[in-house]
Amino acid sequence: MGTKIGVGLLGLGTVGAGVVKILRSPQGRHPLVQELELARVAVRDLGRPRPVTIPLDQLTTDPKAVVDDPAVQVVVEVIGGIEPARSLIMRAVAAGKSVVTANKAVIARHGEEITAAAATAGVYVLTEAAVGGGIPIIEPLKQFLGANRIQRVSGIINATTNYILSRMAQDEIAYDAVLEEAQAYGYAELDPSADVNGLDAADKIAILAGLAFGGSIDRASVSTVGISNLQRCDVDYAGRLGYNIKLLSTAERTAQEPNLNMKISQPLAVYVCPTLIPKNHLLADVNGVNNAILVEGEPIGQLMFHGPGAGAGPTASAIVGDILNIASICRLHNNRLSYLPTVSNWQNCHLVQQEKIQQRNYIRIQTHHNHDVAERVSNILNNQGVPIQSVTRFDTANSNDGDTEIIIISHKVSRQQISTALRSIKALREVTCLAAHLNCL
Ligand code: HSE
Repeated sequence: MGTKIGVGLLGLGTVGAGVVKILRSPQGRHPLVQELELARVAVRDLGRPRPVTIPLDQLTTDPKAVVDDPAVQVVVEVIGGIEPARSLIMRAVAAGKSVVTANKAVIARHGEEITAAAATAGVYVLTEAAVGGGIPIIEPLKQFLGANRIQRVSGIINATTNYILSRMAQDEIAYDAVLEEAQAYGYAELDPSADVNGLDAADKIAILAGLAFGGSIDRASVSTVGISNLQRCDVDYAGRLGYNIKLLSTAERTAQEPNLNMKISQPLAVYVCPTLIPKNHLLADVNGVNNAILVEGEPIGQLMFHGPGAGAGPTASAIVGDILNIASICRLHNNRLSYLPTVSNWQNCHLVQQEKIQQRNYIRIQTHHNHDVAERVSNILNNQGVPIQSVTRFDTANSNDGDTEIIIISHKVSRQQISTALRSIKALREVTCLAAHLNCL
């Protein structure tokens, strides 16, 4: 067996503490867990109470000291945020150390630079915990699904918003109260606006798109709408019409046929938005902290990955799995890291303009007028070439006499077409307010 493999931990928050707990109780797990040794831990504040106790001589407030420590062979980065996380990862790689990180923000923006540096240094930077918490999705996309021509990767990949939306659909509970619950469970980011505004999900879908389509994804171009403006009544109306609302992230080829000429850039639509999902769809019943990722390709068909998407235990499970992969290579091949398939881009991709994204739409209009409005709105949609699936009227619960809400569900059209139609609808005298416009599967 030989000497143990030293693990250096950057960050001891919810996830870092989860990793320590696994390393300290190896019984019943893969035998290699016993070969891992927590060597050094960087924290921001030595005095802060934590769920795990670390001997003082292993603790430091200087993360570089962990990276540079000769006893550390694998660096685990769970600080989050862009800097200093990115620089510390690059420093570890330059020192010939493999890195395991849960940092979606860094990987979505600097993944290419980091992967290139790791390839040059002959080390690994493994990122299973960055997307989907405990769900294995990164390595399956990298290693096991390469035989497929991927058409679409879509899913629920932010646990905080899924927890909020599930609770809102089930209980009469205020948005802020549910967000506090999600924070208390350790699901939310340090700044939870990254969750509720869809930025965390956008980082994750950019990472998945890069792996699925083999090209670098411009993170800044991912069209992103969060749930902060979502109204409870839309969750209710959607439910009555046979849908659940989820924060759905999608990356799909816009061309019908896959790109067979690798010299031509692959056009992709990559976006995050609150979406009505029919209750009989595979993704509709993914609730609470759970995430799910649906991979569609040829010849695999549809493949669904489902499980806990955040929290100490599930995220630590993914991190320790990555450490074990690195450890097994160190053991088997005398520290020569060359055996796991690594990712490098094999084609160019570009994101299509947001206006060209095709989607079905849920539109909610408020009106004081009971007559003709639905017909007028329908006429506008027809004239703009927007095919309508259904028009439903609801009397508002707390309305004055005569207040009505009209819900329209359209078939698929481009965002440009629907925006043009919505401008004309807004201009109608009878329309008090264009109250909601959501994506619809
Ligand atoms: N804040 C993230 C989420 C944590 O809610 O999904 C897991 O990446």
